Amino acid sequence: MDLSRVLEFPVKEFFKQPRSLFGAGAYESAGPEAAAMGLKHVLFVTSGLRGTGIVDECKTNFENAGVSVSIYDKVESNPKDYNVMDAYKAFSDGGCDGFVSIGGGSSHDATKGARVVAAHDGRNVNEFQEVNASETLDNPAHIAINTTVGTGSETTPAYVITDLSSPDAPHKWVGFDRAAITTLAINDPVLCMTQPPEYIAYTGFDTMAHGSECYVGRVQHPSTTPVALSAIKLVQENLREATYNPNNYQAMENMVWAQYMAAQAFSTGLLGILHSLSHAVCAYYDIHHGLNNGIGLPRVWTYNQPAAPDKYADIAVAMGVDTRNMTTYQAADAAIDEVIRLVQDCGCPDNWSQVAEYPMTRMGAGWYEGKTNAAIESDDDELQKMAEHMMGDLCTPGNPRDLTVEGAKEILRDCMYDPMVRKTSGEGYRQNIWGAAPQMGRQVQGYEARGNGVSRQPA
Ligand SMILES: [Fe+2]
Repeated sequence: MDLSRVLEFPVKEFFKQPRSLFGAGAYESAGPEAAAMGLKHVLFVTSGLRGTGIVDECKTNFENAGVSVSIYDKVESNPKDYNVMDAYKAFSDGGCDGFVSIGGGSSHDATKGARVVAAHDGRNVNEFQEVNASETLDNPAHIAINTTVGTGSETTPAYVITDLSSPDAPHKWVGFDRAAITTLAINDPVLCMTQPPEYIAYTGFDTMAHGSECYVGRVQHPSTTPVALSAIKLVQENLREATYNPNNYQAMENMVWAQYMAAQAFSTGLLGILHSLSHAVCAYYDIHHGLNNGIGLPRVWTYNQPAAPDKYADIAVAMGVDTRNMTTYQAADAAIDEVIRLVQDCGCPDNWSQVAEYPMTRMGAGWYEGKTNAAIESDDDELQKMAEHMMGDLCTPGNPRDLTVEGAKEILRDCMYDPMVRKTSGEGYRQNIWGAAPQMGRQVQGYEARGNGVSRQPA
């Protein structure tokens, strides 16, 4: 029986969540936990987190627990298929028996891919797209030590890989795989305090994207959508402070809770076209996922608002708006105002064409050998390709409003070139009252030195 035309998502899958440790100092448990799992030799998979001291501290921690360590530290932002295969090769060549990812979503996602590849005798990771593609669940152990306030990948079955080698390239695909759920997730807010401010902002936008997409989406799993709304509230109340004062431990801890809760919510409640949008532009331009989401948030909320005005009215309340004298649509408008104000307060540029100082690596066939930079601008032909990429994204079916190629192109064009203003009534955005914004758009693949190392004590 085909129930798809009767009821959207008639069968909802609830993915389990990994055991997790949360709190200041939690990362120091990683080595003893690995030893308790019986691991003898693990592979660290990371972007390097240069200047933070985190990788060196973790290495010492594991070695003190009697677990030897090899390191693959070349994971890139928007992890590429070759990052995954290189990590797998390091794991295999090193005779390792477990993975440890250290960093944000890129490191965790590349590790999830490598782990799936390891369970399938080195087959190419691009063979494992979409839902539960693994044929064997017998994976090496994976401890994820998280250092960002964004993807929540340490606690989800999701991973996202950029395919630059198959006939489908360039293609950024989503794996949603029960075999990719980590063995142990570690969230230590102290580690997140080492991030550059713009990186905190980017990843916070990603958390807002996760919470909002899950809350308004079509799955509407009763056990997860309220959690998504709570995560939205935490982002609204803490992202500005965490961005501009990353030494405020309480704000950072709240952001870590937000990213963790939003990720657990979307593990079951799924996502929507904001992620399809972000994946599509990343297939063509190597810009940060969270930055994409910051630019896309008000556009996608605007597109979706007619299909879920009551949900956006709820979001307005979660974001602190007094909606008692508003209609549902006025409240939904107010949510768009609030998210524009939030992302602009945190330094988000108006559109992709204003992301001027990012390396802006042009993706596509043969890109890596040439590795040329290019301004972020797309003609109609490229917007068409991106729109079709959005239509085929795993996240699109969960969106509350059906997507058309024409609609996708309009959202993409707006994100590419237009000012960030609420278009539901024509009112302009509010002024940034938070003073100088952190410089957005610069490369953040590995953390750059900030000179503060890793503190064991909350500030
Ligand atoms: Fe995301």
